[in-house]
Amino acid sequence: MKKILAIVLVLMMVLSLAACGGASKEAKTLTMATNAYFPPYEYYENDKIVGIDAEVAEVIAEKLGMELVIEDMDFGSIIAAVQTGKCDMGMAGMTVTEERLESVNFSDVYAVGVQVVIVKEGSDIASLDDLAGKKIGVQENTTGDIYSTDGFGDEFIERYPKGSDAVLALTQGKIDAVIIDNEPAKNFVTSNEGLVILDTEYAVEDYAIAVSKDNEDLLKDINAALAELTADGTLDKIVAKYIPAE
Ligand code: ARG
Repeated sequence: MKKILAIVLVLMMVLSLAACGGASKEAKTLTMATNAYFPPYEYYENDKIVGIDAEVAEVIAEKLGMELVIEDMDFGSIIAAVQTGKCDMGMAGMTVTEERLESVNFSDVYAVGVQVVIVKEGSDIASLDDLAGKKIGVQENTTGDIYSTDGFGDEFIERYPKGSDAVLALTQGKIDAVIIDNEPAKNFVTSNEGLVILDTEYAVEDYAIAVSKDNEDLLKDINAALAELTADGTLDKIVAKYIPAE
């Protein structure tokens, strides 16, 4: 009897450690790979990951009769986690790009993002042209990284694990600008004194959920759930909670 109990306990431990470990629909968990340093889409509130993506994912999971498990990882690991089936979906304010589409499928678009430029107040950088030859900070492996590397040259790009690290470097005068998505940018500018967002859009992008190419069924289910929560106003409600109207 004791032996059985021990086996059961070990099994339970293994199962609980196996978050993102090949969870499938049968397992009734929906594992979401994200990078939780991207307010208002995903960020920590105490020990809990909250934000637009976290809440939308929660509603999707509910609609699919599954339990949501969120796995926080480097942004650059998300696509591989989805592609290899380690996680069921990637949701991280993630932009649909041609290159990513070679590795994963994307759901229907649920939000739009804009790459913007943050500088210090009083900076001599007022337009995109002024960025030439300046040190630009980005979160590594994001579209901000990819586009600005293309546009301004690798030697001018400083890559940081988190967007907030790039913003910190900017406040410390280590770099001249940060290129990042507009809503996180607004958050960072509010929580750090002396920063401004330039009145210029670097790129407009679509956010969608990444799903393995081997999991067409899940993609269909996610799109059906997204359509419902868009039509019934749930999506707008969640967005309004995190992005107060100006
Ligand atoms: N939209 C950008 C991209 O897809 C940045 C996303 C960063 N997301 C995050 N959760 N850190 O590359």
